[in-house]
Amino acid sequence: MTRVLIVGTGAREHALAWKLDQSPDVEALYVAPGNPGTAPIATNVQVAVDDVAGILRLVEELEIGLTVIGPELPLALGLGGLLRGRGHRVVGPDPEPFRLESSKTYAKRMMLETGVPTAEFASFDEMGPALDYLKSAHYPVVVKADGLAAGKGVSICRDVDEARSALRAALVEHRFGHAGREVLIEEFLEGPEVSLLCLVDGTRVAPLPVAQDHKRLGDGDTGPNTGGMGAYAPVPFLNQGDVQGLVEATVVPVIERLAAMNAPYRGVIFAGLILTKAGPRVLEYNCRFGDPEAQVVLPLVAGDLLPWLEAVASGKLTGTVPVATGAALGVVLASRGYPEAPQSGARIHGLNDLPEGVLAFHAATALDDHAGLVSAGGRVLTLVGHAPTVAEAARRAYGAPLHFEGMQKRNDIGRQAREGFNVQRSTFNARRPPVSTRDCAHPVNTRRGSANNDSSGSAIFVGSDQPMPHQGTRGPGRGAPLWPPKGPGIAQSPSTPNAGLKSFRYNHDLGRPRLAVLASGEGSNLQALIDACSTGVLGARIAGVISHSPRAPALARARRAGIPAAYIPITSRRDAGARRKHEEVLLRTLTTLEPDLIVLAGWMLVLSPVFLAQCPCPILNVHPALLSVAGAPLDIPVLQGAHAVRDALQLGLPYTGVSVHRVTEDVDGGPVLRREPVDILPGDDECSLHSRLKMVEHRLLIESVRELLDSSFAATLQSPIPTN
Ligand code: GAR
Repeated sequence: MTRVLIVGTGAREHALAWKLDQSPDVEALYVAPGNPGTAPIATNVQVAVDDVAGILRLVEELEIGLTVIGPELPLALGLGGLLRGRGHRVVGPDPEPFRLESSKTYAKRMMLETGVPTAEFASFDEMGPALDYLKSAHYPVVVKADGLAAGKGVSICRDVDEARSALRAALVEHRFGHAGREVLIEEFLEGPEVSLLCLVDGTRVAPLPVAQDHKRLGDGDTGPNTGGMGAYAPVPFLNQGDVQGLVEATVVPVIERLAAMNAPYRGVIFAGLILTKAGPRVLEYNCRFGDPEAQVVLPLVAGDLLPWLEAVASGKLTGTVPVATGAALGVVLASRGYPEAPQSGARIHGLNDLPEGVLAFHAATALDDHAGLVSAGGRVLTLVGHAPTVAEAARRAYGAPLHFEGMQKRNDIGRQAREGFNVQRSTFNARRPPVSTRDCAHPVNTRRGSANNDSSGSAIFVGSDQPMPHQGTRGPGRGAPLWPPKGPGIAQSPSTPNAGLKSFRYNHDLGRPRLAVLASGEGSNLQALIDACSTGVLGARIAGVISHSPRAPALARARRAGIPAAYIPITSRRDAGARRKHEEVLLRTLTTLEPDLIVLAGWMLVLSPVFLAQCPCPILNVHPALLSVAGAPLDIPVLQGAHAVRDALQLGLPYTGVSVHRVTEDVDGGPVLRREPVDILPGDDECSLHSRLKMVEHRLLIESVRELLDSSFAATLQSPIPTN
């Protein structure tokens, strides 16, 4: 028997609660915070979805055995990783795999690297280059905010004027806030759009029935985009073989890649696909059940859902999810004024007279003392008909006598399917494109390169085909460059399905500043740098990565990205002679990389004054604590050294934070470029706190490197390091 908590407040969570309520093995069912629809079947607990500390407390106090996270906000706040880090079973990915949803450029890069077919795109963070790009674009184009914009950051632009306004909205007017700091301009694709939802346990993938959503407000796909006005499943024009092909082409490669990165995906992945004539293309990934897809997919899961979700959470997914016969069709009932300015407070009639075969899942409803059940937001309810055919399911859903003043709904959900007008197979291709993921996978080369692999005092280069760089290989005009390496994901071979993508606009720019990264840990900060460089967020490239630990995952990450990686052994950290020798090799190796900036991303050795004096360029360090800044004293101790996270917990501090600073002779003490506090939550342990700190580290590190590169880079590099 399991005690289950569902996090969320919408119709998706009501559908989950409805399905789990039928399980004989659910001992108690809670929803945080839930809605009036979940109240009769579960215990609603008034903890908001963004109160991750409150949810953690709830899980521990109520002895929850399985937590299912519905919406994206708690996932974006790291709830999946926080609960998992505390040993709890949870359906919902950790922060790293969640980046598939929270950053479209990250998702694109993943697709590019793993051979998943997607729309051609380019990414920009400034108007100038974006406007230049528009001049040669084929219209329509799709302009998308990079980050989470609650479904509002996507515009289909028919001409250059529309595209310009969409760019202005994101990059100049900041209408999507942080989410629109970067935009993607994507080719517009044509073909049926489908939602492929799969359960994933880290390594295995089990698809659910494929659904079709209707995003526009009005019949015939007219009017503004919404969160979804209705859906139906399964789509009649895909057979089992098609679905298998779609899963293999669009989901499996990224799940494999995440597992290989030691960032396994555990939860529900939702690939938004367009089936073009040339084959399927991924539009986006969501890291959760879709809404309204969940409302039509869950009623089609035959039998008990609980064991499937438990298998996801515990990494034991096997077999095929059994599917009930028939079809489900959901119609969203929305308030007057939705999506721009929805009105609330309309009394809802007819809920007690639902005919058989019709379910009503609550989203934005509230109980009013006088009026009873009233609307309380945009999408109020989803009415779902379940029947042997799509046509009958539609008849049931549309026949339900439910209404409220100002109610808006579409009348054509699943129209083509229910009228028997099936999508012609000749108009799309659901099969895997000719290039398999394995063809695109980047071979891991363990050949030891370089002149010297004697571990007694030299760098050992791992996993790069490239010879070591040497003086004089840098930049154009000095003969054929041996450097930088042809990195996977940076310059794709023309045989990949994504060849010719214009996304990485710095691809051929050999004049970019060069970063050398010293990283001996997990390498998540290195990964953030790799991503930022390969997507053009940082106009720099990583010339090489060096570690003092041979098994550092950071080295493997570098290798996977095609970046030369070197291991420089140190025989003893305590012995001054050994450290001096290590630094000599380090300096020699760094010099060959010709770096403009060195980034310490989890480098656990203190650099000596001699090294710093001889170092060819500035050094930045990211540190998991708040460091002091002149004129802005801290009311908590300054935590320096390798155990700053543990120390913050042991001292019982209310908060700690992250700093990025220039490296001087002071240990963790040079001038601070960025710092940001991070709360310590009740129940935090080293793992949960550190993973939240790292999310902040990644952002601050990129911002700091960018600032250094942007602010007249040459001048910055030549100026002496301030000593205040
Ligand atoms: C990061 O938390 C970084 O701040 C810390 O090591 C970790 C490396 O993580 N550095 C220090 O403590 C330096 N004093 P990563 O390998 O995942 O980037």
